[in-house]
Amino acid sequence: MAGAKSSADETTRALAAAERISVSFGDLEVVKQVDLSVRKGEVVAIIGPSGSGKSTFLRCFNYLQPPTSGTLTIDGDVIVDAGRKPKYADLLKLRRKVGMCFQSFNLFPHLTAVENIDLAQISALGRSKHEARARSMDLLKRVGLETKADTKPARCSGGQQQRIAIARALALDPQMMLFDEPTSALDPELGHEVLAVMRELADSGMTMIIVTHEMRFAENVADRIMFMADGKAVEIGEPRQVLRSPVHERTQKFLSMVFDR
Ligand SMILES: Nc1ncnc2c1ncn2[C@@H]1O[C@H](COP(=O)(O)OP(=O)(O)OP(=O)(O)O)[C@@H](O)[C@H]1O
Ligand SMILES: [Mg+2]
Repeated sequence: MAGAKSSADETTRALAAAERISVSFGDLEVVKQVDLSVRKGEVVAIIGPSGSGKSTFLRCFNYLQPPTSGTLTIDGDVIVDAGRKPKYADLLKLRRKVGMCFQSFNLFPHLTAVENIDLAQISALGRSKHEARARSMDLLKRVGLETKADTKPARCSGGQQQRIAIARALALDPQMMLFDEPTSALDPELGHEVLAVMRELADSGMTMIIVTHEMRFAENVADRIMFMADGKAVEIGEPRQVLRSPVHERTQKFLSMVFDR
């Protein structure tokens, strides 16, 4: 009983709570009954082998991937219940609350850095051009790129483009951010700049779920690490515990492969 009560309390306090989320593609179930509650200000890193369902599970949090079953609650609003589709208005609200950055940056090539950041604020939030521009410039400064405001993406490095993409997501004032391997397409040095921005975001209290292969970053920045394999959440806990003394054999096997490389 005590266990059931603390789990209910956990869900109530959570900014985002996924409960028994499953995702199937045809006959293939790639996410299997995964639970994850994230508190306000918490950073959770998801690690695991390729094809284990990390991206699919992460994308459920802003409904880019509709779950087949389970429930998803964000900031007290039930977004998904037993696989039922949310209303369009709720979906728009959700996408504003939950920002996302991917491995590929998806910036508009014909717009400058600052115009890329202006755009969503004007179209999604109805901010005036003037208001949006002021916010865009603040954010460019925050990610260390105010000098690139008038540069088009093709003339920015991969790391700079990713930081512009992060600024664009932050411009909608999200309550939480999802990151799917934001550095994996980048050279290590450029990845480092992006990780520094993410660390600053974490320090500023942003709630984040980050799928990453950067174990050192996960250990230093995350409050908890979840290990996924074969669509299941195998293990979740404090970074040191999961990375240095994993309980499950599957986690041990994965980590020994990662660290022996
Ligand atoms: N749209 C889709 N249709 C069919 N199968 C899919 C689809 N998206 C993902 N899958 C399958 O679901 C499984 C999980 O994929 P997912 O991308 O979530 O893995 P991942 O853990 O993020 O892997 P990686 O570390 O390589 O990014 C894989 O077997 C993949 O082939
Ligand atoms: Mg993935």
